[in-house]
Amino acid sequence: MSNNLTQKEYTPEELKAAFIKLYGGDESAVRLYSSPARINIIGEHIDYNGGKVFPASINRYLYIAIRKRSDTKILYNDIRFPGSYEFDVNQTFVYDKANDYANYLNGILQQLKERGCAFDCGFEILMASNIPAGGGISSSSALECGFAYAVIDTFGFKLDRVEIAKLGQMSEHNFMNVKCGIMDQFIIATGKKNYAGLLDCNTLEYEYVPLELGDYRFVVMNTNKVRKLADSKYNERRGQCEEALALLQKGGVKIAALCELSPADWNNYSSLVSDPILNKRARHCIAENQRVIDAASVLKAGDLSKLGQLLNASHKSLKEDYEVTGIELDTLAETAQKQEGCLGARMTGAGFGGCAIALVHKDKLDAFIENVQTAYEAAIGYKAGFFVCETGDGVAKLN
Ligand code: GLA
Repeated sequence: MSNNLTQKEYTPEELKAAFIKLYGGDESAVRLYSSPARINIIGEHIDYNGGKVFPASINRYLYIAIRKRSDTKILYNDIRFPGSYEFDVNQTFVYDKANDYANYLNGILQQLKERGCAFDCGFEILMASNIPAGGGISSSSALECGFAYAVIDTFGFKLDRVEIAKLGQMSEHNFMNVKCGIMDQFIIATGKKNYAGLLDCNTLEYEYVPLELGDYRFVVMNTNKVRKLADSKYNERRGQCEEALALLQKGGVKIAALCELSPADWNNYSSLVSDPILNKRARHCIAENQRVIDAASVLKAGDLSKLGQLLNASHKSLKEDYEVTGIELDTLAETAQKQEGCLGARMTGAGFGGCAIALVHKDKLDAFIENVQTAYEAAIGYKAGFFVCETGDGVAKLN
């Protein structure tokens, strides 16, 4: 089976050996944790609009090795990224561009401190991620939530998985200036192998839905166009949704979030949002929310063809109404949709680059990847990355 992964995959055992090589000392005190990537099956750009989303944690992991120290130092190292970062548990943590990935971690520590978690000593960590950075399957949320879980478990703080998701989201808001929703952190903190999570982002109520795909598999297709959410139009889209909501409220519609409207309600009220751009943004959100509800019910009924059609409709809406796809994602998704054995395909995550997913028959995977790769390279000028994913557990302790 072609996989097209170029980077080496690290195992937890290799990480532990590298940890001892780097820091020396007692191996038995090293604790190992894993944190998964995620795909979002459907429900895009509506977690911050009170919508329902349908993501799944997948079997691509970031591994974290951590050990307490006898002093108050904090040391961060990562196998893939150069540089070593040193802090002190007693300091106040603030964003500093020079700290690069350490900002995600310090954002978590600052949140923990603000919640009254007291550190009696420092710690050292080494990380290895098998999740492509900036690739749209949530490498940054895996980092935030995996780190939060490792620290909370090591120090015995009493915070549950939903709180871990909130810590991750707040770190992203406060330190990275990305006003993300809760979806990524939520599924990474609470995900379960063999299930997708149907999450109501208004109430944070969630349900595990068995991801029974029969002869079909989700293929993750990476545009290899790296983007950072902070540099993208993510916050702009969020702002446009807030403007559309304010217009509806001003017109007398009693809602607190766009996704409280059904598609039928939208037909009645859409004229209140007269700006054509804002109108399209709101239309996407309301239609996408309905597609999530439909997707969960067709999956429960085992109707994968219908699920595929919903994926295609979601991509079209993200392309035309929400305008977050771009040539790379459109080429991948639209080429995928035409392949034999593919029931549907769409971008996943924030868009503007990153990854798309396709639901493909297991006997057609090789031909599918080859054909989409050929078309992508011809149109874009460089190769895409592909891998067939399975579900995986949310953040976990490994030893
Ligand atoms: C990013 C954000 C999520 C969500 C998606 C789009 O992944 O982190 O909160 O908004 O984009 O659905």
